[in-house]
Amino acid sequence: MNDILCGNTAFASSWYAVARSIEVGAAPRQITLLSRNVVLYRSADGSVVAAPDRCPHREAPLSKGTVEAGCLVCPYHGWTFADDGRCVDVPSASEGVPAPPRAHLKTFHTAEQYGLVWVCLADEPAAPIPNIIQEHDSTFRRINTEVDIWQTSATRMVDNFLDITHFPYVHVGTFGRAQDTHVPKIELVALDDDWFGYEYEVLANNSDLGTLASGQTSGVVERAMATGFNLPFNVRSDIHYGTGLSHIILLLSTPIDDVTSYFTFVIWRNDDFSVSAEEVIRFDLAIGAEDKRMLEMLDGVLPLDQTTLVSVQADKCSVEWRRRLIEWMNRPPAVRLERAG
Ligand code: FES
Ligand SMILES: [Fe+2]
Repeated sequence: MNDILCGNTAFASSWYAVARSIEVGAAPRQITLLSRNVVLYRSADGSVVAAPDRCPHREAPLSKGTVEAGCLVCPYHGWTFADDGRCVDVPSASEGVPAPPRAHLKTFHTAEQYGLVWVCLADEPAAPIPNIIQEHDSTFRRINTEVDIWQTSATRMVDNFLDITHFPYVHVGTFGRAQDTHVPKIELVALDDDWFGYEYEVLANNSDLGTLASGQTSGVVERAMATGFNLPFNVRSDIHYGTGLSHIILLLSTPIDDVTSYFTFVIWRNDDFSVSAEEVIRFDLAIGAEDKRMLEMLDGVLPLDQTTLVSVQADKCSVEWRRRLIEWMNRPPAVRLERAG
């Protein structure tokens, strides 16, 4: 059950969003990434520290400990660890006796980007956190939302986020009633240096919360969209309205284990701030809840080979993502330095 993603070292070399920056403070907390429990806390210098959530002494969870004088203190026997993982105090040891060499924690890479804390478990990240150009555009504001837990595989989430043919079925409670079920021929293109996918037009049902998100009041609105991926599990979906309003969604799926995932999204909008962030994301949260409900009905990981599942032309982007993902999983580590596109 936990081997396809968590057992493959290629996945450890990626960055994963695990928490919102505002949620990580001085108190240690546990997250789980690729089946490994990780303790997270913010050090005195403001940076985020991530380390295995298991004390080298008797395996107590360090996330249940405390941070004192800038050091992480184990709740069991008080062994104390500096921000770089060094064990700096073994209270039971006689003065002057150094900590055993294997008492030190091997800390993980951390980064903060887009309002989120990212962790990479490998010695070196294989690629940078993907770029969202709107992050650097002052006409856009960024909106973050909470990190949720979905009882489904990150592979099924990416497959869903790249798929537009479920809109008129899964999203009938939000924007999905207006669409033609037929999807024009999909052509895959590089959306920019970091993202590969496709562009398309879609009619979106527009009522209630949708009118706040679209900034329009008509019953149906036209969206020009672009959806693409960055390996392994990052998806972005751009919505452009005729009014000039753009709504960019970064959809992040992080494997807790093979069949459980963190999910969060980030939005960038070039609006006039007249709609509050809470109201803007309420519509996206409702859409996400529809996807979550569907995906939690499916068992296990998505079969990644190209023969187990039946696909049609409209599934082209997901099929290409799976093809590239398998190639990426099988590359020797040194070659995984390229970006996804
Ligand atoms: S288990 Fe952590 S100090 Fe003993
Ligand atoms: Fe969806």
